[in-house]
Amino acid sequence: MSGHTIREKFLKFFESKNHKVMPSASLNPATYGDFTTNLTSAGMQPLVPFFKGEQTPPHPRLASCQKCCRADDIEEVGKTWRHCTFFEMLGNFSFGDYFKRESIAWGWEFVTEVLNIPKKLLWVTVHVSDDEAAEIWKQFVSADRILRFDKDNWWGLAVGPCGPCSEIFVDRGLDKGCGQPDCAPNCPHEKTLGCDRWGEIWNHVFQQFNKSPDGTLTPLPRPGIDTGAGLERIAAFLQGSGTIFESDLLQPICDYVLQIAGEESEMRGKEGQKERFSRSGLLTAPTTQPPNRPTTLAVRVIADHIRAATFLLGDESPVIPSNDGAGYMVRRFIRRAFYYGWTGLNLREPFLHKIVPVVVRIFREPYPELARQQEGIIQWVRNEEERFGQTLERGMTLLEELIEQHAQKNETVLDGRQVFRLYETYGFPKELTVEIARERQMTIDEDGYQRAEAEHAAGGGKVVVGLGAVVEADLATLRSEFLGYQTTSAQGSIIGAKRAENDWLIVLDQTPFYAEAGGQVGDIGTLRGAGFCANVKDTQRHGDAIVHVCEVVEGTPQVGLTVTADVDAIRRAAIRRAHSATHLLHKALRTVLGEHATQQGSLVRDDYLRFDFSHFAAVTSEQLRAIERIVNDAVLEAMPVRITFTTLDKAKKKGAMALFEGKYGDKVRMVTMGKGRQPFSIELCGGTHLSNTAEVGLFKIINESSVGANLRRIEALTGKAAYDWTRQREALLARVAAAADTHIERLPEQVERLRRTVRELERKLESLQAKAAASQADALLAQAHEVNGLRVIAAKIDNLAPEALGTLADQIAAKSD
Ligand code: SER
Repeated sequence: MSGHTIREKFLKFFESKNHKVMPSASLNPATYGDFTTNLTSAGMQPLVPFFKGEQTPPHPRLASCQKCCRADDIEEVGKTWRHCTFFEMLGNFSFGDYFKRESIAWGWEFVTEVLNIPKKLLWVTVHVSDDEAAEIWKQFVSADRILRFDKDNWWGLAVGPCGPCSEIFVDRGLDKGCGQPDCAPNCPHEKTLGCDRWGEIWNHVFQQFNKSPDGTLTPLPRPGIDTGAGLERIAAFLQGSGTIFESDLLQPICDYVLQIAGEESEMRGKEGQKERFSRSGLLTAPTTQPPNRPTTLAVRVIADHIRAATFLLGDESPVIPSNDGAGYMVRRFIRRAFYYGWTGLNLREPFLHKIVPVVVRIFREPYPELARQQEGIIQWVRNEEERFGQTLERGMTLLEELIEQHAQKNETVLDGRQVFRLYETYGFPKELTVEIARERQMTIDEDGYQRAEAEHAAGGGKVVVGLGAVVEADLATLRSEFLGYQTTSAQGSIIGAKRAENDWLIVLDQTPFYAEAGGQVGDIGTLRGAGFCANVKDTQRHGDAIVHVCEVVEGTPQVGLTVTADVDAIRRAAIRRAHSATHLLHKALRTVLGEHATQQGSLVRDDYLRFDFSHFAAVTSEQLRAIERIVNDAVLEAMPVRITFTTLDKAKKKGAMALFEGKYGDKVRMVTMGKGRQPFSIELCGGTHLSNTAEVGLFKIINESSVGANLRRIEALTGKAAYDWTRQREALLARVAAAADTHIERLPEQVERLRRTVRELERKLESLQAKAAASQADALLAQAHEVNGLRVIAAKIDNLAPEALGTLADQIAAKSD
């Protein structure tokens, strides 16, 4: 039975028992507001608020297949039949609904009647105190197969729901056991004699308590059932009792690793390969290696770790490599896998990224998010392994020397300060040093390491290491990794810094800050590290370096210092809106005005865009209305925005707008909006975009003007700015209506009425003035003086329009005749 079939049958089975099937939650627990672990580490974790009564479940009975990842037993991976970092956990859950009786009965039914596992191979365990569960089990198995344990039958994470549990074990075969008289499930000889006979495949947790950080247990408001069944283990057992690496969920990955190693060794000659294998000590025989399947520990570790990294990087909320937390876990998986390839399979060139498509192919159906992000995952893995490859090459030589020095002096504890130096100077991870040392029966001086680390931190990271000489050098010779397509916050190390008048120009090895390009403005935000804080005012690109233009508010930038780089994420979101809207506008312009209306220049700021395009006349207000409507319709259609990488030729064949041909390299980044064979818009673009056009919110054109011969400009707003602009217009209208003593709706008639009144009043005024002028004429005539036989009137007349003054003069003349 394939792994996919088992998953499907499990969910269907519990659906038939009136469970609501939930999709797997993200591997990143922060997405559902849980910060107790770095990664989702149990099937029940996303459901904790339901057990704790903080939220109401959508149904009292749920079932799921949850993506999980734990690194607690990372060093066991590949050495036992069952250990892995990433795994899928099948689970059925009850919140204040059914309890032990139903859970045990249904679990048994599924295992024996759907999976058809022979009853003679099954054993169960219960908690020492749990007579009730033991009693229920007696209906299904004989009493001698119901074993009682204390710690082994209590389940809970560090904090949160917990309770006694009851497990189902399969007998994987005498040949895999230790042969001791007391060999049984939870065999005491598992660690010491490598007993691998018993496989726990099902765990009913009777969730009854909540454990707080101080260890106190309080009853749960909604006690219930939390079942966990490891998909890989079940698949491995059903598919021939091999290890999980021989199951169809991992075997194709192992095969491909071997293929890569084989191709590589063919190129290098087989002898060299053999020698490396035995020298590295990594040919430790796997405990249950079936014949004709030459898997090695290295192959298994690589297969497990690259599968985990693929799922983490391809999560709905991708976990990207960084120096701490969940990000460090994915980095560690990639590095550890690379190390095993290097030492175990003699692989020197980046190879892990090539395995990603194999993982995606296996899991693309149940987890479509992987296929959607495949290109991005490959890039991340490749970047990581390329960088780590250099570190490993240098670090391994130094570590070998260090080990050699100690060995000569018969010392088995590596100097902590030197191990720290290896990390700080060459980026060689401590846990790898520990692991390699352990292979040589050595440990490291943990206290000495901690002291060296504390001294380094106290000095504000002043030890200028590795790239120290780059300060004040030409920043354009540096290279930064851009992380901003995936995140707005990440850690990076300062690799160069330079004064520029009152500012500092700072370059990190990796940064989420977008440097101004393609019309899109540079990001702003902050850089913070030990004793250091800077406001980033702008970001610019110099060659391959992303340069943060900073106002330093605390400390001075030291090369080697690790900083947290936080982009102003609200502004960035607004920039993404404006940028995606620019693509929609471009398409709408060509639809309304014709294909000639192509982009000639653009500026993309937060929620503001300016777009210059070729056109021979002013765009009429009807055309503007049509353009605006097309864009807003595209927004309302909520089209997915997809980013893919391809060649320029292929992109053009698809109809992509590629306007600045000189600027594109071999691989182009293609931004597609809309689905199907003829998407709404395809453009080549390096900018940061939305994931769906609906996020634009509202698109509003605010101006159209001429900026040169046959060159027009449209300015428009998106999102919040478009909304604010509309609100301001509305407020203005309300003020006008209030001044006109009416409502906005009646404003047009009221204005017309007022204009009529004004015209009438003007006419009345004119006739009144004429009358007044006539009476003034008599008075003025009476003031006339004789001057040399002529009658002269000299008078100052105020407040009379020029025409009225003319009329007055005419009247005086007429009367004086
Ligand atoms: N929470 C338990 C486990 O993870 C059962 O789902 O094993």
